[in-house]
Order: sequence, then structure tokens, then C-alpha cells
Amino acid sequence: MVKFLLPLVIGGTHRDFILSSMSKFTHHIFVCGKCKPHKNHPDRKSHDPAALRAALKKEIKRLGLKAQVRANDSGCLDQCDDGQVIVIYPQAIWYGGVTFKDAERIIHETILGGKILEDLLIPSERLGCGKAKKVISEANSQQDPAT
Ligand code: FES
Repeated sequence: MVKFLLPLVIGGTHRDFILSSMSKFTHHIFVCGKCKPHKNHPDRKSHDPAALRAALKKEIKRLGLKAQVRANDSGCLDQCDDGQVIVIYPQAIWYGGVTFKDAERIIHETILGGKILEDLLIPSERLGCGKAKKVISEANSQQDPAT
């Protein structure tokens, strides 16, 4: 209760209070827990969303990055044609065909080094497949051609 009344007492807004009390993550990695391995992936045996997330978390912890970097399980990210998908926010870096073997280089090269891993990157023109693409297509086809 004190947490919620404190901003009123000190004159700030509730939003300011929440923002100031939140952790300042520089990277938030979402690992889709529903993905299936891509049919053409050369290492389908290494497809394991739980192992991938665990490997990311292990490396984050090992490097002492827990206060800045977080790896969470997520539901479908609507990018299902790309094998195992992760997305890193707020940078909005989408990787597909990821296995737990990629965890260390994702943390070292992308998170720490700022480097995009081209072999995993889902090109922006392919983003929004599956349901989102269908919804956009249907919305476009329903538009009045006169407008
Ligand atoms: S099931 Fe993973 S992106 Fe859809």
C-alpha cells in the first residue's frame, strides 16, 4: 500500500514511480516455447526451446549480466516458419533456426558485442508470417478500392 501511495505523497505520477522502480534491462530475450524445428535445419536434434532458454540464462548469469539482460519463455511469436525463434527487445532483433548451441555466441556477439548474427537473422521482409500475415492480407483485401 505504501508503494502505491508514495508517489502521491511525493508528488510524482504513478507511471513515473513504476518506471523508476523497474529494472533497467538493456536486452530482453523472448524464447518461443512452442516452435518446432525447421524442416531444413541441419541440426534438428539440437532443437530444444527449454535447453536454449536455460543456456541463455546460464551464460547471462555466468557473465554477471542478470541486472541488464533477461531471457524469458514466451508463447508463439507468430513467426512459426522459421524454426526456433527468439526476439531480442528493445532492439527488435529476430533470430530463427536457433539451437541451444547458439546461446553463447548470441550473448557474446549480439548482446555484448552488438553484432547481428547473419546466419540466424530473420530478414525484416519475412517478419509477420503466419497468422499476422493472414490478418494483414485479409484486411487489405477488404479495403474499399475507391479509398
Ligand atoms: S510457434 Fe514459435 S513462433 Fe509460432
